[in-house]
Amino acid sequence: MKNLLCEIERNIALVTVNRPKSLNALNPETLTELIALFQQLAEKEELVGVIFTGSGDKAFVAGADISDMQGYDVFAGREFGRLGHRAMDAVASLPVPVIAAVNGFALGGGCELALACDIRICSDNAKFGQPEVNLGVIPGFGGTQRLPRLVGTGQALELMLTGDMIDAQEASRIGLVNRVVAQDELLAHCFGIMEKIAQKGPIAIKLCKEAVASGIEMDLARACRNEVDLFGVCFASEDQNEGMKAFLEKRQAKFKGC
Ligand code: HXC
Repeated sequence: MKNLLCEIERNIALVTVNRPKSLNALNPETLTELIALFQQLAEKEELVGVIFTGSGDKAFVAGADISDMQGYDVFAGREFGRLGHRAMDAVASLPVPVIAAVNGFALGGGCELALACDIRICSDNAKFGQPEVNLGVIPGFGGTQRLPRLVGTGQALELMLTGDMIDAQEASRIGLVNRVVAQDELLAHCFGIMEKIAQKGPIAIKLCKEAVASGIEMDLARACRNEVDLFGVCFASEDQNEGMKAFLEKRQAKFKGC
């Protein structure tokens, strides 16, 4: 991989977009690498989760690569949009949790990449925005859909229609990020969340993510029936037996992920 770094430690993958000269802008090559990497990560049985970040201390991802997009015609634009969606879907549909460690600018496609993750934590220097209208285009990696679902249509439309950047505190206030931490503590904080997740039953973690991700697409009644089914599935696992037995025996559970 030329544009992404991936290190796996204690079954937690740290994925870094590594194009610091263009503030980690996403070009087609990077998106293609991202799809391939997440396909590989999806097959790793023992994987606890992924932490996503950008290289350097200035940017998470400053958007899709504008120098690449500039010459597109309608067909190339659609192809690029499709590729971006495949990449965002690869992130969103990973069976295990993905945390965006937003360490600076998260603009356009960069904000959309953070939106495709399950949890967003940012550093105090982070800046968010959907500045596509400044370039005569609209968000094209899922921002028009995932942003309003997360922060509501009013906040999302203000960001998309003005192209304004907001700082970390404002992003936290509107619910775009869960928390703001000092930049030098960002990765440790995200690893801390993952270590906590690693202590839980792996099957329950995956089913939790599935219940939320599939349910959000359904009406409430269907989504609740879906939850009931997935709750039932937990009882096919040894982890459920171990988790409840450990509680009753007043000891720590030893989950095996089966
Ligand atoms: C290509 C980019 C880039 C981008 C920054 N760079 N963002 N290159 N695509 N999205 C490059 C700059 O050209 C510059 O290269 C280098 O990174 C450093 O950036 P500067 O602008 O010099 O830094 P600074 O003055 O600190 O400003 C930082 C910034 C600004 C505010 C983040 O770079 C900026 O506004 N970038 C564009 C943000 C944006 O509009 N993103 C949305 C893209 S559209 P050189 O070679 O000069 O050093 C999008 C659509 C997604 O994402 C959907 C598509 C289907």
